[in-house]
Amino acid sequence: METDLVLAIAHHFAVFLLAAVLAVEFVLIRPGLAKGDLALLANVDRAYGGLAVLIILIGIGRVLFGLKGWEYYVYYWAFWAKMAAFAAVGLLTVPPTMRILRWRSQAAATSGYVVPESEIAGLRGYLKGQVVCFALILVFAATMARGVGY
Ligand code: HEM
Repeated sequence: METDLVLAIAHHFAVFLLAAVLAVEFVLIRPGLAKGDLALLANVDRAYGGLAVLIILIGIGRVLFGLKGWEYYVYYWAFWAKMAAFAAVGLLTVPPTMRILRWRSQAAATSGYVVPESEIAGLRGYLKGQVVCFALILVFAATMARGVGY
């Protein structure tokens, strides 16, 4: 009971923090993005990756040590739908992370570097995709917790 509660609390803290970090990325990745904010953005992006790893570890903990037992989840489509949506968010973070690293090295090499607007627009598309998949995760999480369609 206690382990399940602690894991559930940690899971909620981590996923809300992840949502906050995604929102910060949305605010920072906008026209006019330059050196100072690029350094902040790179740190925020690292935090995003770290939180994702933490959520996976806590999530596995919930599957293994949660009240329902692991068998409940591994034979349940809603669990795998949630995992697929989570994996999709992960895949959609790859191009932005690579781009942010490239922008940082370009900013280090060029004084007064400002990220071109066309690249900003492209990256915001990936962020929007992440928001949609994140919303799907929440839908499948609530479905899975209630055993709907089991
Ligand atoms: C960004 C990613 C994630 C989000 C936003 C998220 C969100 C949630 C939410 C809101 C709940 C509570 C559902 C409810 O009680 O109505 C939940 C429960 C749970 N999540 Fe996640 N989750 C994420 C990732 C993961 C991962 C990666 C795993 C497993 C590897 C996982 C495993 C679980 C488990 C086992 C429960 C308990 C469901 C139950 O009560 O039966 N989650 N999740």
